[in-house]
Amino acid sequence: MYDLTISNATVVDGTGGERYLATVCIKDEKIVRIERGGGAFPSQSDVDAQGLILAPGFIDVHTHDDIALIANPDMVCKTSQGITTVIVGLCGYSPAPFSPNADIPAEYDILLQSHSQRFERFADYLEAVKQAKPSVNYLGLVGHSTLRLSVMDDVNRPATDREIAKMADLLVDSMNAGAIGLSSGLAYSMAQKSDTRELIELCKAMSDRNGFYVTHIRNEADGMIDGVKEALKIGRDADVPVIFSHHKAMCDHNHGTTKHSLKLIDAAAAEQTLALDVYPYCYSSTSLTRERALRGGHIVIARSDPMPQMVGKSLCEVAELLNCSEADAVDQLAPAGALYYLMSEDDVQRVMKYPMTMIGSDGLPFDEKPHPRLWGTFPRVLSRYVRDIPVYSLEEAVHRMTGLPSKVFGLKNRGVIAEGNFADMVLFSETEVADQATADQPKKTSKGIAAVFVAGKPPSEHQGKSLESRHVLPCAGSDNPV
Ligand code: ZN
Ligand code: CU
Repeated sequence: MYDLTISNATVVDGTGGERYLATVCIKDEKIVRIERGGGAFPSQSDVDAQGLILAPGFIDVHTHDDIALIANPDMVCKTSQGITTVIVGLCGYSPAPFSPNADIPAEYDILLQSHSQRFERFADYLEAVKQAKPSVNYLGLVGHSTLRLSVMDDVNRPATDREIAKMADLLVDSMNAGAIGLSSGLAYSMAQKSDTRELIELCKAMSDRNGFYVTHIRNEADGMIDGVKEALKIGRDADVPVIFSHHKAMCDHNHGTTKHSLKLIDAAAAEQTLALDVYPYCYSSTSLTRERALRGGHIVIARSDPMPQMVGKSLCEVAELLNCSEADAVDQLAPAGALYYLMSEDDVQRVMKYPMTMIGSDGLPFDEKPHPRLWGTFPRVLSRYVRDIPVYSLEEAVHRMTGLPSKVFGLKNRGVIAEGNFADMVLFSETEVADQATADQPKKTSKGIAAVFVAGKPPSEHQGKSLESRHVLPCAGSDNPV
């Protein structure tokens, strides 16, 4: 007698291999039997999956859900897309290990709603998430900017040897508690003045602990190639795997630069372990600063603490309404977040096609009008980039959302539909699945997702787990990583 059977499903198993018809049987959180050809078996409950695709639950490798896991543990923005595991702590931001005395600059507000949401030790943070019992599984990185703010009296300079040693201690302590590596956001003010040596030394501290270096590189516009080279050097010198976050080329005159960056990454992949993530949109989102406003391009306000009435308007409109320059409008709107229309479709597709590219939403869960990637990323890949523009076959798209990240991050027993693995699964309609979130209506749930299971249960009944990661990375560039 099984706990659950999913009968007569079309299984796309996450390996990239071809789909097959089967009945999948679940007992005690795991997939215990896959009967090819289908059929009915005695079970507590059965889901008739005739005509539907059964895939492993999606793994969102790039999120800022650190606090959302505690504040909104149902995580509907993720489970409604078929996501069952999230990685948090990206772009240099993590709520732990955070000194209670540290000053928190305005640019930190993409992560925290309030300053009380920080934790002195990574173990405290993990404990708080555990207590909240989120619907999804999670893995956490330590933010480099968080370490700097905790250890340095002034972040507008490189760290000294003593400060690096203190940060390394905090990093190691966090990894002992369960963190899986270090993230950086070198384009952000808190980390802009760090030097390459500081990052190499921090990465060295975690290299014998299987730590990952996940980086939002120093510059994603004019200095993008130098930013890629710096990240490759950090990975090489410290002997750690490097994962490039939301790889992109911003501003019109840089469009096409991903040809060059991917070539560099591919050449380096013969010697070092590398992977990438991408979100399937031509516009980005982060906090609003004068510097970013000066890059030009169309900018739309996603959040403004002092002027919430301006959310949804373009910066240009706001400047007109306030009768001031755009730069002055930024000062009046801040702390604020915005959408930036600065990428090209060709670059997005080129990055998506690179063999070691995974999908990560990079959504900001507390924006008033968030970038639609928060609610739409995964169904958008399955509709726009599988059905409408065939960038991927369905099997390959699912692989990049499941089997590939599972392999890259060394998740045990997750990311592939196989006997013995945890029953993290999503059931969806291949012809109907689609994102519905847009810049105007960013919180619209996707359609075509029929059911989601985390360890064999609906997400609402699941008590999320902090996952253990033991990474075994394939060589980047290899065509068949799983
Ligand atoms: Zn980032
Ligand atoms: Cu990010």
